[in-house]
Amino acid sequence: MVPGHRQVHVDRAEQLAHAADIAAARTQRRALFLEGQEGIGKTSLLLEIYRQHTTGGVYFVDLGRMVSQVDVLNELARQARQQEIPVPGYRTARSQFTQSAQVQVNDLRARNSSISLVINASIDRSIQLTSLSDALMENLASDARRPVICLDGFEHCEAPMRDWLGRDLLPDLLTQPGTSVFLAGRNIPRLSQPHVSSVHTMVLPPFGVDAVQEWIDSLGFHSLKRRAVRIHDMHDGIPGLIDEFFSTHIEPHGDE
Ligand SMILES: Nc1ncnc2c1ncn2[C@@H]1O[C@H](COP(=O)(O)OP(=O)(O)OP(=O)(O)O)[C@@H](O)[C@H]1O
Ligand SMILES: [Mg+2]
Repeated sequence: MVPGHRQVHVDRAEQLAHAADIAAARTQRRALFLEGQEGIGKTSLLLEIYRQHTTGGVYFVDLGRMVSQVDVLNELARQARQQEIPVPGYRTARSQFTQSAQVQVNDLRARNSSISLVINASIDRSIQLTSLSDALMENLASDARRPVICLDGFEHCEAPMRDWLGRDLLPDLLTQPGTSVFLAGRNIPRLSQPHVSSVHTMVLPPFGVDAVQEWIDSLGFHSLKRRAVRIHDMHDGIPGLIDEFFSTHIEPHGDE
């Protein structure tokens, strides 16, 4: 699902209030991590947070679609440019990165010791990644609007990506002035001190009956008006399952 795709969003007032406090720096916390099982509404909530902050510099990255760490940085830079937030430092670092990758290929042809080259190349890659990331952080933070960064699907990341997010990117983002981070996943990263204390973690609960009622009302399903308790119980309050049920529901004609 992409930002801009609009479905009715119900409930989650508590989580949205926390998100608004964090984005507006009304609390010491800089990040909200949303954890929860399949279909509990993590992506929906993250998209709602995204939608509510479109006046700032706002970013949404589906981590499950990112193959490498550089992809994440490129995607953030692309979304910055789309919002007319210039990223000159990142562009410069990126072109140096491309040039040195070409030098490495030439090196490989010139030398025999491919093992030492592989090691050197991986050290170089990590230094380059750090300098790319630093350049991007500086560019994003220099935007007068407060950057709101939404990262979804943490559970889909492979180990190197998880490690990089937990050890590098998230700590870097959390130390940028004015930046707030919203991350969701079936599991979420555990940061080390001091960064962990800037994170508010929430386990998303299933919907209560009131939320199901609100959902029925906002969809305009008159025939289901008095069936909120039953629908809630049948699906254990899991929004994904309730959504499937609603998607097959046909409202009878002439029902009040
Ligand atoms: N707050 C909400 N209001 C309305 N519908 C919702 C809400 N939360 C979830 N849904 C519905 O439930 C479906 C599943 O939710 P969502 O995709 O956000 O779950 P998820 O936690 O991201 O699941 P996964 O772990 O598979 O990524 C959504 O497509 C949406 O239709
Ligand atoms: Mg999801």
